[in-house]
Amino acid sequence: MRIIIFGAPGAGKGTQAKILSEKLSIPHISTGDILREAVKSQSPLGKQAQEIMNRGELVSDNIMIEIIKDTLNQDKCKTGFILDGFPRTLPQAVELDKLFAELKIDKVFSVVIDVNEDEIVKRITSRTACKACKAIFNDAEVKGLAKCPKCGAENSFYKRDDDKEEVVRKRLKVFRETTQPVLDFYKSKGRAVFVNGLSSIDKISEEILGLLK
Ligand code: AP5
Ligand code: MG
Repeated sequence: MRIIIFGAPGAGKGTQAKILSEKLSIPHISTGDILREAVKSQSPLGKQAQEIMNRGELVSDNIMIEIIKDTLNQDKCKTGFILDGFPRTLPQAVELDKLFAELKIDKVFSVVIDVNEDEIVKRITSRTACKACKAIFNDAEVKGLAKCPKCGAENSFYKRDDDKEEVVRKRLKVFRETTQPVLDFYKSKGRAVFVNGLSSIDKISEEILGLLK
């Protein structure tokens, strides 16, 4: 099963991708997580990406396309994957289609989680994640907890550097200007299904799993 999960920042891509990844036993490939790992290890890529991400801008297409080529060529992706955060520009979408052709992948299910901007700002500014297992929570879910309820790690909660409201607004602007045309491209070709991202987390994953059947 090959899935691309689209949506504005904070729409719930990571949340849904993690659920689908567990239920379908396929790897969750998040370009944001790959970049955050690079920043954490201060690799050359991480050093380059850090400031760009903290400004809410996009890392260059060339870098991102190389990352995706490397990743999708790995054995773990041979039987399927969920792409979260890629493609986000038209050149990335074009290169992804070429890569799928090279890898002889013809069936890809693309789903867009649709959420309005006010809800997005609310969700992102009250997000907490676990450094150890990368689980995503709402602040209220983990308030007062010392350990991650998913993996049990201690003192592992953190807030992303790009989750400050002014950076979120910038990320939304970049989404409207650069990523929305990718969604319009997929929509015009009948290649993407839209789901209502205002429903509950469980309802959305049920809906996506139903659509996959
Ligand atoms: P990335 O990490 O991909 O961030 P993003 O697209 O901005 O999206 P988020 O991860 O913020 O949100 P999400 O949709 O995953 O929502 P989540 O599930 O966490 O990218 C970060 C940066 O990396 C980019 O800005 C760019 O610089 C760079 N980058 C990455 N990919 C790139 C690319 N291809 N090209 C160039 N640059 C790239 O949910 C959010 C919150 O809402 C959580 O608290 C969650 O609990 C809650 N929530 C989720 N679903 C629901 C629901 N149904 N109801 C109520 N609350 C919910
Ligand atoms: Mg995410």
